[in-house]
Amino acid sequence: MPNNAATEAARLSVAPMMDWTDRHCRYLHRQLSRHALLYTEMVTAPALVRGGALHLLDHHPDEHPVALQLGGSDPVELAQAARLGAQAGYDEVNLNCGCPSDRVQSGTFGAVLMRDAALVAECVAAMQAVVDVPVTVKCRIGVDDQDPAYVLPEFLSRIVAAGCERITIHARKAWLKGLSPKENRDIPPLDYDLVMRMKGYFPNLHISINGGVETLDQALDLLDAGLDGVMIGRAAYHQPADILAQADRRVFGHGSDRTAEEAVAAMLPYIEAHLATGGRLHQITRHMLGLFAGRPGARAWRRTLSEGATQPGAGPELVEAALAAVAALALQAKAV
Ligand SMILES: Cc1cc2nc3c(=O)[nH]c(=O)nc-3n(C[C@H](O)[C@H](O)[C@H](O)COP(=O)(O)O)c2cc1C
Repeated sequence: MPNNAATEAARLSVAPMMDWTDRHCRYLHRQLSRHALLYTEMVTAPALVRGGALHLLDHHPDEHPVALQLGGSDPVELAQAARLGAQAGYDEVNLNCGCPSDRVQSGTFGAVLMRDAALVAECVAAMQAVVDVPVTVKCRIGVDDQDPAYVLPEFLSRIVAAGCERITIHARKAWLKGLSPKENRDIPPLDYDLVMRMKGYFPNLHISINGGVETLDQALDLLDAGLDGVMIGRAAYHQPADILAQADRRVFGHGSDRTAEEAVAAMLPYIEAHLATGGRLHQITRHMLGLFAGRPGARAWRRTLSEGATQPGAGPELVEAALAAVAALALQAKAV
């Protein structure tokens, strides 16, 4: 596997999240960090290969380093999908072995694949044979009644033998029945120690940990503890500036901090270009609501955008007005 831009960037990544990490969200995140690795939402191999839905691969050139996450369990189809992803310019192709949703279970992919390490190994090998970019896996520590301490090293050794050199482990089990996918992101408890132990067993495997990381400090602690990467999902979506704005300097050691205000300014031409091609403001601003989370004016920012962005004709001036409201409230807060 080539040690490409994505592998370096994997020191800090934003998790794949269906309906959230679409191209607009990723473009926003890229305005906050030049170096963090960004993942797409899961795209299913059947949608690309059988459905010909190549528009699902669309992304902006500024999004790099960016990884495509695929869902599927048929090695031939996954290889075809991986090739399409690499041709579209993605820096990495990732196989989803962690998603517990019903829809995904019915297609025999996602977390249910934790039960079939041999098949995952076959999929990884087939994908890696046809692309030059890294093929990686995102998995759980186990599913249902499996014993993670036994299953996880077994799973990892199979996929390492198949040529996988980088993995992200969501440090909790998936329950395939009885919990909604949403509940399954907080229950059962996280087991970071087990993931740490895997680093001891597989010192040459690049291991990123995922699950429950809420601050950049926490991510830095996990990196200091010896993990190769940290993947953050919900916190990066809900408080993107808190997680990403200092990441280039503090995690990657080069580049300067960004501010939420600078990110907003950088979004304005992007918004204009999107509207000019018939897009709607809300499709972009829905990902921007958390930019000022925890700061004076956060509520005014959210309210202005969420109430105004769906109105007919709404454009960048709404975003500028929301930003002015934040600035005014920040001044007021300082004066008190
Ligand atoms: C809205 C939402 C959608 C998600 N979609 C995916 C997905 O498409 N593929 C995937 O591997 N994980 C998906 N996940 C799981 C996240 O990638 C991540 O593993 C999980 O949220 C735990 O990380 P966190 O505690 O930092 O949020 C999703 C999570 C959320 C909140």
